[in-house]
Amino acid sequence: MTQFDARVMENREVAQDYFEIFLEWPAPARAPLPGQLVTFNVEKGFHPFLRRPFAFASYDKSERLVSVIYHRRGPATQLISSLRSGDTLDVIGPRGFAFQPPRDADQPLLVGGGIGTGPVVFAANWLATKGLHPRLILGFRHQGLFPALTLRPEVELQVCTDDGSLGFKGNVRAFLSTIQASEKDNAFVWACGPYPMLKAVHEWSQAEGLPCQVSVEEIMACGVGACLGCAVETVDARQMVRVCTEGPVFDSKVLKWT
Ligand SMILES: Cc1cc2nc3c(=O)[nH]c(=O)nc-3n(C[C@H](O)[C@H](O)[C@H](O)COP(=O)(O)OP(=O)(O)OC[C@H]3O[C@@H](n4cnc5c(N)ncnc54)[C@H](O)[C@@H]3O)c2cc1C
Ligand code: FES
Repeated sequence: MTQFDARVMENREVAQDYFEIFLEWPAPARAPLPGQLVTFNVEKGFHPFLRRPFAFASYDKSERLVSVIYHRRGPATQLISSLRSGDTLDVIGPRGFAFQPPRDADQPLLVGGGIGTGPVVFAANWLATKGLHPRLILGFRHQGLFPALTLRPEVELQVCTDDGSLGFKGNVRAFLSTIQASEKDNAFVWACGPYPMLKAVHEWSQAEGLPCQVSVEEIMACGVGACLGCAVETVDARQMVRVCTEGPVFDSKVLKWT
């Protein structure tokens, strides 16, 4: 984990109110893995005063570039969207625990949507470099929210929209019900997105007997394990885990889904 001023290489709108920012990632900083985070200190003044967490959406080793796909929704992301090529951003990363490929499964089913799109896109491209053929299932309310993505040819993309304006009509959970038994052989599930989506994906994975890891994007405050602002309940002896220090990726069986 390194703190430095990263140079903005590009910052472009990729869907309605969704942007992808590309940052130079110099050699001393460790290579990020899918599921890991970077935090941005957007403004050194009082407001917005906390570091903001974002998941990596890509890492290009040869160009030493990383990217983050983010939703412009409040003061911090408004400021980030105003950054231009050549500006700098105070970053700390990579932070947190990444998705872990299971030893006994080799068919990735990656499910995401909304602000959870970036980490599963990164995961799909990363798994493709390991010789796997990931199925990437992304859900959006409508076509206008589907971002322009760069995917390796090994990745099979399935888009779902609530209103049917693009791809499958319905949410990702409804699409999962259409997957044939043969396509679930040796499958494992990684997911990132809104809580109701993660819960539905967890329940489907449990019913199908598939291992499932989720990246939880709780609202964070201190970001260093001190305030418990990001704590989520577990069903194991720990009772609670902090997303900022023990996460953001967890085995979905460990979390208490309410
Ligand atoms: C582990 C982790 C990974 C994340 N990865 C990404 C990412 O890849 N892309 C991305 O766009 N965002 C991501 N986020 C969320 C991002 O940190 C917030 O959207 C951002 O800090 C909002 O700042 P703001 O000042 O623009 O908006 P704020 O004014 O802070 O918030 C605007 C609105 O969004 C809500 N909100 C803020 N944070 C969250 C959240 N985490 N979940 C749900 N609602 C929230 C607020 O309640 C408020 O209603 C991640 C968060 C976490 C904890
Ligand atoms: S944000 Fe404070 S403990 Fe995680």
